[in-house]
Amino acid sequence: MDAEVFLTYSSVSEDDVRNRTVVVIDVLRACSTITTALHNGARAVMPVQDMAEAGKIASNLDPDVYRLGGERDGEKIDGYHLGNSPPDYTENEVENRDVILNTTNGTQALSRAKSAKHLVAACFLNAGRVVDFVRAVDDEVTIVCAGQQNRLALEDTLCAGLLLDRLWEDDEPDVVTDSAHTAYTLYHTDRDHLSSALRRANHAEWLIQKGFGDDLDYCFRIDPLPILPYYTENRLVRYEQASAS
Ligand code: MLT
Repeated sequence: MDAEVFLTYSSVSEDDVRNRTVVVIDVLRACSTITTALHNGARAVMPVQDMAEAGKIASNLDPDVYRLGGERDGEKIDGYHLGNSPPDYTENEVENRDVILNTTNGTQALSRAKSAKHLVAACFLNAGRVVDFVRAVDDEVTIVCAGQQNRLALEDTLCAGLLLDRLWEDDEPDVVTDSAHTAYTLYHTDRDHLSSALRRANHAEWLIQKGFGDDLDYCFRIDPLPILPYYTENRLVRYEQASAS
C-alpha cells in the first residue's frame, strides 16, 4: 500500500487529492463528532467552511430537520444548536436530521479534499472500519491530518500512524515518504502508552483547560464505532447509504 501523509491540511492542493482515495483525520474533534453523529442516526453531516455557508444551507432547510453544530476557539458558536463535543450528538439530537458542521480545522480539511475519488473521515473511533475500506478500494492512499492552526497535531499524526501500521500490517515498506515514515515511527514509539501520549498533546491540554476533558476519554477509544463517513454530493453519509444510491 503506497501512502502519502500530509501532517496539516494547509499544504494540500487540489492536485494532491484529485482522483485519489483520501482519508481526512481530525481526532479532536471534528471527525469524532461526524462519526458519532452518523452512528446516532444523522442522515448526513455537511462540512462547511464558515458561518455564511452554514447559514445559507440552513436557510433552505425546514428548521425541524437540521442541527447546526460547530465551534470557534473550541466553544459552541452563538445561535448554533450544538458545539463540537462528540457525545452531545445524541440520537435525541440528530436522528433523522442533517447536521451542518462548521469547525476551525476539521471541516476545512474536508472541504480541501473534495475532489478526491473517495473521501472518508477518520478518527480513532472508526479506525478499523477506515482501514478495511481503504484496503478494499485501492492500493494507495492519501492521509490528510487536519492539524491545528496550520501546525502538526500529535493526536492526528498518531492516528495516521495507527492507520499505516494496520495498512502495512506492522511492516513498513522499504520506500515510503518522509511524512508517512514520521507518522508510523511516532506511533510505534508511543503505541504502548498511547493514552498518556495523547493526553500530552497540545490540543488535548487546551481542551482540558476549556473544560472539555471528557471529550478526550471519548475520542481516544480505538474502534468502538464501525462507521464510515463517506463524502458524496457535498455531504458525509454512512458508506452503505452512499453505495446504495
Ligand atoms: C477543529 O476542527 O478545529 C476541531 O474540531 C477543534 C475542536 O473543536 O477541538
